[in-house]
Amino acid sequence: MAIETLTHDIAVIGSGLAGMRAAVEAARVSKGKLSIAIFTKTHAMRSHSVAAEGGSAAVLYPDEGDSYDSHVFDTIKGSDYLADQDAVERFVTLAPGELIQLDHWGMPWSRRDDGKIAQRPFGGHEYNRATYAADKVGFLEMETLYSVLQKFDCVKIYHEWYVTSIVRDGDTFRGFTAINLATGNLAVIKAKAGIMATGGAGRMYGFTTNGHSSTADGHFVAYRAGIPLKDMEFIQFHPTGLVPTGILITEASRGEGGYLINNKTERFMSKYAPQKMELGPRDLVSRSEMTEINEGRGFEFREMKCIHLDLRHLGREKILEKLPQIREVTMKFIGVDPIEEPIPIRPVAHFTMGGIHTDIDGATPLKGLWAAGEVACVSVNGANRLGSNSTTTCLVWGAITGGLAAQYCTSAGGSGFPVDAVKKEESRVFDELLRGSGSENPYVIRRELQSLMDKNMYVFRTGEGLNEAAKTIKALKKRSYKRVEDKTKEYNTNLLHVFEIEAMLEVAEAAIVGALARQESRGAHTRTDFPKRDDGKWLRHTLARYTPDGPTLDYIPVIITKHKPQERKY
Ligand code: FUM
Repeated sequence: MAIETLTHDIAVIGSGLAGMRAAVEAARVSKGKLSIAIFTKTHAMRSHSVAAEGGSAAVLYPDEGDSYDSHVFDTIKGSDYLADQDAVERFVTLAPGELIQLDHWGMPWSRRDDGKIAQRPFGGHEYNRATYAADKVGFLEMETLYSVLQKFDCVKIYHEWYVTSIVRDGDTFRGFTAINLATGNLAVIKAKAGIMATGGAGRMYGFTTNGHSSTADGHFVAYRAGIPLKDMEFIQFHPTGLVPTGILITEASRGEGGYLINNKTERFMSKYAPQKMELGPRDLVSRSEMTEINEGRGFEFREMKCIHLDLRHLGREKILEKLPQIREVTMKFIGVDPIEEPIPIRPVAHFTMGGIHTDIDGATPLKGLWAAGEVACVSVNGANRLGSNSTTTCLVWGAITGGLAAQYCTSAGGSGFPVDAVKKEESRVFDELLRGSGSENPYVIRRELQSLMDKNMYVFRTGEGLNEAAKTIKALKKRSYKRVEDKTKEYNTNLLHVFEIEAMLEVAEAAIVGALARQESRGAHTRTDFPKRDDGKWLRHTLARYTPDGPTLDYIPVIITKHKPQERKY
């Protein structure tokens, strides 16, 4: 079968906040002269960014006490000193401009009584800098960017295309291969520059806030192409996942004054974070909740141990105005009206802090390829991201990478397109996968992977549990080999899932092996057998490199500019 070839100057993979922002910036910088394509495995407006709820962080009111220095310090302290401090400084400096730009593009931010953009408290921040639109921030930011994109004829969105590989020629990016899910045909995408913006890997877990689309696709495509994954052992657990589904109950509910309560009716955070209470950083609040549960002070709801998030004292009016979506979700999914009853919650896999290794510009080691948003590890988040920094990070590095990719296109040389690589990919997709004859049901493998991650890679980890996880994942990889029962070409979701499962297995292995090697506790990586942070040995980033037999690890230093690591107190 002849393989279709599509040619663009820039191919952006992923259509969430980072991908859309990158495309807009590339179109602006090139004044509409470059041909820019977004490839997305869903419809663009179904990207997981729409699920962001509570806020986007930026210093908007330095005249009212907030400052760049404070946002920088909070982020670095929150990261348990694993963030690269130059990247954090750049982030904080560019953040306000991005949110104001969105305002100019029509983003319906909530307003204060004086008409200015409203901001609310979020965990680990010293000032109110989570900029919000009720509790629907991600959806409204996405809608704003999607509308802006419609102005640019030079941007084409390919909805429902799944990228299967990066095509490289030595150390230079040349394009991608992708399946058009509607036809089932494999296509070659030739591009001078590429931007990976495929989001997180949260669906490696069963109990997660992440949409079913967050399956580590971009991580794996880059990893398999020889680009290292950085700090994959750091996975954030959000303290308030709705029990039993894991749907996000925004941190804004605590920002607006909600309490966390144990079965003794105590606001137990007074023991763990006496100053910040419920607005401690997520790693600390999640550990505190699990300690309460493990020591018998939790509740049970639909056979899951949990904690109560109590909003009743906020009153009906405030809940309806500031947290309408939370109320809708709890009522629809578990029949609980937070105006009348507490919400059952527990820590839930939420955010992939590691990702594709990039420099401060979002450039990967492969010339011509950038990464932005959750799939990238720049690294601003280090070992623990502060809530509300992520959507802003998507915007900041979407803009940076889009601009740099556009500039690069003006000088990028001609293409030595490696035809052999495409032939190999065709055979992998059609002969090995579609016509493969493995005996195991891939959905059983997926369930086993998710149970393994829920159990052994959760809030508290042990060497024993991680060793077991490392062995089990190897066995799962062997068993999973290639079984697609549905042989149809058009919209073959079975084939798509087999790709996703392979991606999640490989990326989960990188996370597990990194976690096993890191014999300390830092941020969201808490080992009960190594309970202390160990800066002497472990103040460094993990790089995992792909081999078919599992990752090899090496390490690079963390960039420290002003803030020497100290003990974190909240
Ligand atoms: O709780 C939330 O609204 C999530 C925000 C975030 O992850 O930044």
